[in-house]
Amino acid sequence: MPGFEVFGEDERKAINDLFDLNGGILFAHGFDAMRKGVFRVREFERAFAARMGVPYAQAVSSGSSAVKIGLVSLGVEPGDEVIVPAFTFIATVEAVFEAGALPVIVDVDDSLNMNPASFEAAITPNTRAVVPVHMLGAPAEMDSITAIASRHGLKVMEDNAQGCGGSYKGRILGTLGQAGAFSLDAGKTIMTGEGGMVLMHDETTYKRARAFHDHGHEYNPTVGRGLDGALMVGFNYRMTELQGAIGIVQLGKLDMILAAQRANKKALKAAIADLPVQFRRIHDDEGELSDAIVFFVESPALATKFAQRMGQEGLGTKNLPDAMNWHFSGRWQHMQARLPRVDVPWDRRWKISADLLERAIAVPIMVKMTESRISEIAEKLHCISKELL
Ligand SMILES: Cc1ncc(COP(=O)(O)O)c(C=O)c1O
Repeated sequence: MPGFEVFGEDERKAINDLFDLNGGILFAHGFDAMRKGVFRVREFERAFAARMGVPYAQAVSSGSSAVKIGLVSLGVEPGDEVIVPAFTFIATVEAVFEAGALPVIVDVDDSLNMNPASFEAAITPNTRAVVPVHMLGAPAEMDSITAIASRHGLKVMEDNAQGCGGSYKGRILGTLGQAGAFSLDAGKTIMTGEGGMVLMHDETTYKRARAFHDHGHEYNPTVGRGLDGALMVGFNYRMTELQGAIGIVQLGKLDMILAAQRANKKALKAAIADLPVQFRRIHDDEGELSDAIVFFVESPALATKFAQRMGQEGLGTKNLPDAMNWHFSGRWQHMQARLPRVDVPWDRRWKISADLLERAIAVPIMVKMTESRISEIAEKLHCISKELL
């Protein structure tokens, strides 16, 4: 899965270089006389935009802020509704609240991504945007989602925190809507410790993202920061040069990470294809990151037992079921007071999603899995399956 597996000497050298070149200017702006032309965050943005094939990238402090900045830059305002899936990291929904808007949470289907029909059914005159999330690196059904969005005049802001480098029908995830948000936190495909990126196609959106992430600065090239004007009310979501320097190195490893994950997933999937389970539906096998193999067993009780047995055998799971509390809206009762009242009890609001997620097991795929580790995992999964299923 993640960049943390391939993190070390190259990244350390990039940090040392920062100090060797100019004494260590860590602010991404100003210090022109001292920094000797070194702007690592700006370089990282250019490299990221080029790798993903879009004209504009704004580096920011986290994936959570990237989702918020993407929404605000696309014009989401207080009073707007934003449609999000029931299976996502909690930050997607928090970002909508942060933008002042109202999250409208809809069911996922057996791909564990947003069900396009549930999305369409939830549209109201107040809907402004939809946030498809490519969970565990597998693309959402973007053809349907973008078609529905354009029919209803809605913005599409992909939350691609978990899908860096993936694609859908040959198009790179995070570039299929009007904006795409990425996370670079410590568990992601490439990482800078904390950090995020927003990708955009048009200059107006980019200028809003750039201003909003930096107190509203309009970046007037003819004056310094002190004399700059403000384009809008913003805040501080800036990335530091440390993260920029690490990000450049990690981005250079992205293709290697993807190739290794994909080969490892293929090998493990082939070795467990005969398990008596239902595998997650994947909308694009070639394009997914191969971050995990997800399958469904018959009941939530069996899923709990299966995961427990995996733990006893030294096998981890990835979010399903171990971190469901942070990835399924049915567990976020604390949000109830901020959403319109409905008659259905909170934990039964997303019954279709609950039925799928509570029966799901996600086996993580690592970059550095050896052949013998893959065989060992497959053998253990077969043993557990024989015992329980
Ligand atoms: C789908 C999704 N959105 C947003 C985020 C937030 O990213 P960050 O941790 O960088 O704030 C995450 C992080 O796990 C995520 O998985």
